[in-house]
Amino acid sequence: MIRSRVIGTGAYVPPRILSNHDLEKMVKTSDEWIATRTGIKERHIADEESATDIAVKAAKKAVESASLSADEIDLIIVATVTSDMVFPSTACFVQSRLGIKKNIPAFDISAACSGFLYGLDIADKYIKNGAAKKVLVAGVDVFSRIIDWNDRNTCVLFGDGAGAVVLSAERGNRGLLSSHLHSNGDHWRLLYTPSNIYSSPFKTHSRVHSHKHDEPYLKMEGNKVFKLAVQAMGETCQEALEHNDLKPADVTFLIPHQANIRIINATAEKTGISAEKVYINVDRYGNTSAGSIPIALDELAHSGRLKSGDILLMAAFGGGLTWASAVVRW
Ligand code: ACO
Repeated sequence: MIRSRVIGTGAYVPPRILSNHDLEKMVKTSDEWIATRTGIKERHIADEESATDIAVKAAKKAVESASLSADEIDLIIVATVTSDMVFPSTACFVQSRLGIKKNIPAFDISAACSGFLYGLDIADKYIKNGAAKKVLVAGVDVFSRIIDWNDRNTCVLFGDGAGAVVLSAERGNRGLLSSHLHSNGDHWRLLYTPSNIYSSPFKTHSRVHSHKHDEPYLKMEGNKVFKLAVQAMGETCQEALEHNDLKPADVTFLIPHQANIRIINATAEKTGISAEKVYINVDRYGNTSAGSIPIALDELAHSGRLKSGDILLMAAFGGGLTWASAVVRW
């Protein structure tokens, strides 16, 4: 059977670190509040670099670690909700900046923090039906550009970063075993960022947003998102295990979306996965949205802690609302 095997990973975060103590000088908050409620100690902020810049750096590392030349890639999928431009897509910029001369397909997908797992799922379907053999999937977000830095409810939570993998069509048992995607658009108001495209220049009133919600910053009802995230992440982990006939003890590592340590711990507990098997880096990066899971996967891959045959369970939750899981046999 043809499977999508991860043959390379890469990640990049911009060099500037914004600590909780730095945030204490910007809004009414404290290191203690942020660390206790979220697990975050610091995050990276892109000053000069854009989503494309950091995606390209992660993508180059992934292609290098796969020991490929960029021209061997035959599909590029970038998950992001903070692309440099409305169009072209970040994926087209990545294709150009990697120097790929073949006219391969390249496109972005929008599923917020679940975006990378959505990208894996799509890539796997291309690979399984024979339409692609080597696929670059990247997740990148620069939420620092869509955060209201005066809003303590949201500005302490996010950071910028990118991660990428190269998937290869291979026969055998290793690779992506399953992916499950979900969404519920009825809950969109709990987590969204408006854009001015919504309002027609020919109308004075928009149909959905009231004026105060039109500022182009991330809005979130944190408490409600928190509860739904715990429920959805737990359920999708469960369906992933059942689909593959796996028990919690079979999982080598749970790689959850890094939004909040309390969501991560609750997901692990609901799924029955012990704490030492949960990969955590939210303390160093905050929530990097689509970058979160591929950054964690890259760190784990380069840590020397993974061996062939290990079972990785990944789960994410984000705006849309969207949520997803994937199981990889390393
Ligand atoms: N510093 C100090 N106090 C704060 C801060 C802050 N940075 N932010 C909020 N507070 C205050 C609130 O104003 C509130 O004060 P009040 O009781 O006087 O009204 C109090 O702290 C408690 O606020 P809650 O919102 O109830 O705090 P909670 O324990 O729920 O934690 C948090 C808030 C961290 C946002 C949590 O709800 C959460 O993590 N939600 C989920 C976020 C998430 O995972 N998003 C998903 C993905 S994002 C994506 O897809 C783009």
